[in-house]
Amino acid sequence: MNLPKKICCIGAGYVGGPTMAMIAAKCPSIRVDVVDINSHRIAAWNSDDLPVYEPGLFEVVSEARGKNLFFSTEVEERVADADIIFVAVGTPTKTYGMGAGRAADLCYIESAARMIAKVCKGPKIIVEKSTIPVRTAEALHAILSANSESGKFQVLSNPEFLAEGTAIADLQNPDRILIGGEKTEAGDAAVETLVSVYNQWIPRERILTTNLWSSELSKLVANAFLAQRISSINSISALCETTGADVDEVARAIGMDSRIGPKFLKASVGFGGSCFQKDILNLVYLCAHFGLPEVSAYWESVIKMNDWQKSRFTEKIVKTLFNTVSGKRIAIWGFAFKKDTNDTRESAAIYICKDLLLEGAHVALYDPCVPETLIHEDLRYVGVPDEVIEKQLTVCASCEEAAERAHGVAVLTEWDEFLQVDFDQVLKEMYKPAFLFDGRNLLDHAALEKKGFSVYAIGKG
Ligand SMILES: NC(=O)c1ccc[n+]([C@@H]2O[C@H](COP(=O)([O-])OP(=O)(O)OC[C@H]3O[C@@H](n4cnc5c(N)ncnc54)[C@H](O)[C@@H]3O)[C@@H](O)[C@H]2O)c1
Repeated sequence: MNLPKKICCIGAGYVGGPTMAMIAAKCPSIRVDVVDINSHRIAAWNSDDLPVYEPGLFEVVSEARGKNLFFSTEVEERVADADIIFVAVGTPTKTYGMGAGRAADLCYIESAARMIAKVCKGPKIIVEKSTIPVRTAEALHAILSANSESGKFQVLSNPEFLAEGTAIADLQNPDRILIGGEKTEAGDAAVETLVSVYNQWIPRERILTTNLWSSELSKLVANAFLAQRISSINSISALCETTGADVDEVARAIGMDSRIGPKFLKASVGFGGSCFQKDILNLVYLCAHFGLPEVSAYWESVIKMNDWQKSRFTEKIVKTLFNTVSGKRIAIWGFAFKKDTNDTRESAAIYICKDLLLEGAHVALYDPCVPETLIHEDLRYVGVPDEVIEKQLTVCASCEEAAERAHGVAVLTEWDEFLQVDFDQVLKEMYKPAFLFDGRNLLDHAALEKKGFSVYAIGKG
């Protein structure tokens, strides 16, 4: 199979940037263009200060940028010139009209499809990289063929399974690559072309090919199953707290059962990230749409449990601090939704900070990677008034600074550097009793209690 000569990706976000950088680094004979309408993002991709923080990403980008990897805002030109066009634009939850709060908003996908149809002349392979509802390829195909002269488009589904924080390792050595295509001669040929790209560094047996609908649905189901495990262990964390069991011990005991396995069994303050909630809501909507209310309710409970876990954590802080946090300083360590990323989308920290601020607390926040402007933006987005942010929020330069004169410290992201904090110094500077709420079960609780902290940890009886 001949490798394609030119690939273009629409959308230079958390998925488009890293995935294309990896393809370019692994396939030096292919020219890879990543285009976006956001000129700031493109400028950052062309600088030393990339818009996405991922360990190892800078090295991969540097290896290929300017040789066979290019970032630009010349969307139409680069798309028109490519053999394969990846679509990696956002598919957020709809906030208006039918399906608001659940269905995926496909407006960016649709406008990308209309633009592709307008500018492309010859035969093209269009690859859905974005996570989309099952049967979106049908809609894409309808738009492309109704608006183009040639009508020679093959639509493939190639969902991305990378996890933020480990994106480079995941792209380098994925568990599997999934490619769905139309079951026709032309569909099979398009699938094989894309297989040939990934096969440059991924063994053929790890590249699965399926029909379009199985591929589209598998991405939603994978995220739903992963999130479900977190909600399941979080539900048990509440039971552990009331019974004297230890959720980490329970997770270890069940995780050693080879039928269950150890991954995604870490109890926490709740899952975040741009994908889990939105993809499950999308699944919930699809099930209801296809007349399966019981299936829809089953998956919705995963989200409800996650929301409950976040509010349970804030309530624990308020109750422990003698039923009021008003006027008290609470140090928050971590704002990103997980370690090793600067992404805050749907981070549990946003909702916990919001509730604490609205309870009148003074929040002193430190995160090693998230800029202050983004923290303000996120809090404003969830309805925290500007004057509250201005008066009650301080963004600090270190964990120690945040903890100065604090009544409590809450760990909300599992950054490794929190393990290196000088806890004697922290204790000295805090009001007593010095309460520590570990929302990630990251720290050595016995050692901290010995020093004199009062520790609350998730799922510890
Ligand atoms: N973030 C993840 O970890 C992850 C993992 C797997 C799959 N996904 C899926 O991948 C998709 C993209 O996610 P993301 O996190 O990269 O989103 P993102 O918001 O970081 O990036 C999307 C980019 O697309 C650009 N864009 C939108 N419309 C455009 C157009 N018409 N032309 C050019 N550029 C356009 C936006 O400006 C933005 O920069 C989503 O469907 C998401 O569900 C995300």
